[in-house]
Amino acid sequence: MTDVLDDVRDHYRATGLTERLKAALAAFGPEDQRLAPQQLAAVDQFHTRGLAATGELAKLAGITSSMSVLDVGSGVGGPARFLAATCGCQVTGVDLSAPFVDAARYLTARTGQGGHVSFETGSALELPFDGGRFDAVLLQHVAMNISDRPRLYREIRRVLKQGGRFATYDVVLGDGKPHDSVHYPVPWARTPATSFMLTAEATREAIEAAGFRTLICQDDSEAAKAWAASLRTSPPPQPNLGVVMGPDFALLAGNLGRNLLENRLGILSAVFEAVSINT
Ligand SMILES: C[S@@+](CC[C@H](N)C(=O)[O-])C[C@H]1O[C@@H](n2cnc3c(N)ncnc32)[C@H](O)[C@@H]1O
Repeated sequence: MTDVLDDVRDHYRATGLTERLKAALAAFGPEDQRLAPQQLAAVDQFHTRGLAATGELAKLAGITSSMSVLDVGSGVGGPARFLAATCGCQVTGVDLSAPFVDAARYLTARTGQGGHVSFETGSALELPFDGGRFDAVLLQHVAMNISDRPRLYREIRRVLKQGGRFATYDVVLGDGKPHDSVHYPVPWARTPATSFMLTAEATREAIEAAGFRTLICQDDSEAAKAWAASLRTSPPPQPNLGVVMGPDFALLAGNLGRNLLENRLGILSAVFEAVSINT
């Protein structure tokens, strides 16, 4: 288990990331100029369909200004900043990658959101928070890096209040498609050794078994395919996630698109209510 976590951490090691972001963001203006969270979308929304997907998930989850929200696997913090800006809630992000957390704090200083958004380094399998602390938990494009799904979803259930919302936006294995049909490298893994997709149905079962009731479960694969097709025809925005993941990011994103278009992978959006673990 520790070996896999180390390998996943290595994949997101991103040496010198904050310095690279500083240099790339010079395109938006001087260092002391405040940026709008949306301006950063091409570098800080690290999932299929970017900002649009984060907005849709927040809406599905019914996030409101009075909520305390945890973003598990928060990356460089784009979803957390966008949620705080658009819903007015307090957001805490937690991520395995220390360089990502450092970059998330830097970008949050640039958007002036330090009063509403904070980040900690930690594992989704051992969340560094007391039980029952959050009204809502978000998990976007993280579970495919985690093999121990029962433990992941139990940890999320533990930190949620009873009746709280868990919203997930995940890459899933296409129905009837074997693991070895997936083309690698992809944005979350260079090889199958750190990639652990489940089908949409198996994902939902694992979440319910951890103490959740399904509220919404939708297949967003068609929208993801349209996004993947558009990536093939339009040039990438500048700067983009290549700043975060390295110069071959276009290859990784291209393989994700190919897997989606060939139905080897799909996209699941789902929202659950935290119920009593004994019911
Ligand atoms: C594809 S990125 C998605 C980032 C962010 N959720 C977003 O949508 O912009 C996956 C993130 O999950 C984090 N991650 C993977 N495994 C994790 C774990 N066991 N605990 C915490 N974070 C993890 C990675 O470090 C990375 O930041």
